[in-house]
This record gives sequence, C-alpha cells and structure tokens, in this order.
Amino acid sequence: MALPNHGANAHHVYEQLGMSIPETVFDYSENVNPLGPPTFVHEKWSTYAKLITKYPDPLGEPFLSAAAKFHGVPVENVIVGNGAAEIFASLAKRYENKRVVLVHPTFSEYEATLTPYNVYIKEVIATGKLPLDEVLDEVEFAEAIYICRPNNPTGYLIPLEEIIQIANYAKTYKCEVILDEAFLDFIDEKESFIPYLKDFPNVIVVRSMTKMYAIPGIRLGYALASKTIVSDIRSRISHWNSNAIATTVGADCLLEEDYRITAIAFAKEMREQMTAFLERWNCIVLPSQTNFICFQLPDPALSKEFFESLLHKGCVLRHTENFKGLNGKWFRVGMKEEPQMKYLQKEMSAWFEENLSS
Ligand SMILES: Cc1ncc(COP(=O)(O)O)c(C=O)c1O
Repeated sequence: MALPNHGANAHHVYEQLGMSIPETVFDYSENVNPLGPPTFVHEKWSTYAKLITKYPDPLGEPFLSAAAKFHGVPVENVIVGNGAAEIFASLAKRYENKRVVLVHPTFSEYEATLTPYNVYIKEVIATGKLPLDEVLDEVEFAEAIYICRPNNPTGYLIPLEEIIQIANYAKTYKCEVILDEAFLDFIDEKESFIPYLKDFPNVIVVRSMTKMYAIPGIRLGYALASKTIVSDIRSRISHWNSNAIATTVGADCLLEEDYRITAIAFAKEMREQMTAFLERWNCIVLPSQTNFICFQLPDPALSKEFFESLLHKGCVLRHTENFKGLNGKWFRVGMKEEPQMKYLQKEMSAWFEENLSS
C-alpha cells in the first residue's frame, strides 16, 4: 500500500496502514525546528491577532523589506510566497513543455508542480556526492535544473564551489538553476548562494521561514532572483497571497540572531548524538549538515517491519518509498528535543536487540 508522500501529518500514515493511533505519538517525519518558534511569537500573539481585520500588503510587507535587508539585496529582487511551496507552484509554468533536470532523491514538490505543465523530467540520482560531469552534461540541454541544498531527505550539502560551477555552466547554456535553500538556516549564511546572485541572472534561490522558525502553520517563504524572474513569478501569484500575521511575524523572526545560533548548535548536537547511536547498531548514516538525518538498517530487507513496529510505539519516521534512489530502504529522522530523541533511541534499541544479530 502506498504511503503518503510528505513528512508531517503523521495521522495519515496510521490511517493508510489501517493502524490505530497510539495515545502518544512523536512525529520524527517532520523536520521543523523542535525548539518551537522564538518566544516573542507567543508573547506578542494578541498584537499579531489584531492584523486579521485588514487586508495584508499585496507584496508581503513588512516581510519583503525585512528579507531584502537581511540578505543585503534590493526589494525588487525578492518575492514573498505563502510558503516556499507556493514559489515552486508558481515557478513551474516557466518550464511548460520544456526539459528540466531533477537531482534525486529530493523534495517531491518539484516534480509534483512540474508534472501538470507537461515538463520532461530528466533524473540524475545522487544519494551523496553529486555526479558533477553527469549534471553538467544534462544542463546543456535543459531549461532548468532544481537543486536542494542542503538536500531533503539526505541532508547532504553540495559544496558551494560545485554550485558556482553549475551556475556558470548553466548561464552559458541559458539554463536556469533553482536552488532550494529551505534548510540552509540550520548551517550558516556563509554557505548560501545569495551573495553570488548578482552575477547570475539565471539562478533563483528559494527560502523558507517555516523550518528554522517553526511556523509551518502560518506559511511563509520567499525567493530571490533577477527582477525579470521576480516579475514573472509575481504575475502568477494571487493578490494578497501572504497573510498579514505571517509577514509581520516573519519580519520579526529575521531579527532573532541568538535564536538562530542556539537552533544551529542544538540541531548539530542532536544529529551527532543520533548518528553515533545508529552507527553503534551498524546502521549506515548519510552525512547530514542539517536538522534531520537519513539512515539505513544493517539489513534493509527488514525496513518495513522496523517502520511498522516503531509506529506501534508511537514513533513516526519518514519512510522513503517515494524517494527515487532510496526506495524505502532508508529512513529520515527529524531532530526533536532531547526526551523525544531518547524515547526514539529506547524504542529502536529494543527492536534492534530483538531483530538484529550482532
Ligand atoms: C526542501 C524543502 N523545500 C521547501 C519546502 C516547503 O517549505 P514551506 O513550508 O516554506 O512551504 C519543504 C517542506 O517540507 C522542503 O522540505
């Protein structure tokens, strides 16, 4: 039976498998910051609530200017979306009836948004290091290439030098590069491609506010690109696309430097602890730079059994059945707070002890 394509919304997994939902469920399949939104969001909530009586700014102010300032770019180069997901949905028509390269395994929305526009998708498979020559060969014949950096679900960060090389090559062949930096906040802005954008009118960087700031429920994302591309995306986005609470909270979030530093350090610590735990049980763990990791059991044939057994214990991992190149033989775990990580390790240890011969 096909499992749902997305992480989060854990109850769908139980429904699809016809399993009853345990009293306590920890959803490791979603990967927003486990520390929750910055404290000011709750403290100022009654102030934000007053915003609902007015129409929001059609361009997404005050977030538009805050994001432009944060990245040191003109506002004309930024477009605000109802989550990064809306940016992808509005971008896809640019490539109607054209050829686009997707580097798998990756975020399912690229393909989902391109398919209705009859886009021919050329797949490159890279569970770790990018096959650079293969990518460059494809770029030559493509209208666009989508790259997720760091990648979801592997957590792998393609080195910036390789991205610059691809962007340069793509520029020569008039190929657009869509760089999804939704999880880059968990690394370091120094790793972002944004400072290079001025030399690359063919590159579009997509960012999300929902991961780092743990606000997926209010939807906020944005893209940075040339003025021409920004206007083109805007022409397909509905008026008042981003709501006033999201754009006001989002603008305030960008001021939270200490919060970001804490979140980055926390994600690193949890990731390292979980990696060490899994490696002690001889699991293969892909090198991740962000707030989730991807691992495989020593015997991948047991993956389904392992997944379902953990579901019974209230631990929802992200299966990888719909991720090309991973094919259900890997799992993604989003980092949570320490007690939840300990609970997961306890339940996994029990299963490993019973099912893995050491
Ligand atoms: C890699 C990646 N990009 C973009 C998104 C969408 O983010 P948003 O919540 O801003 O729509 C997700 C959501 O899971 C994602 O995993």
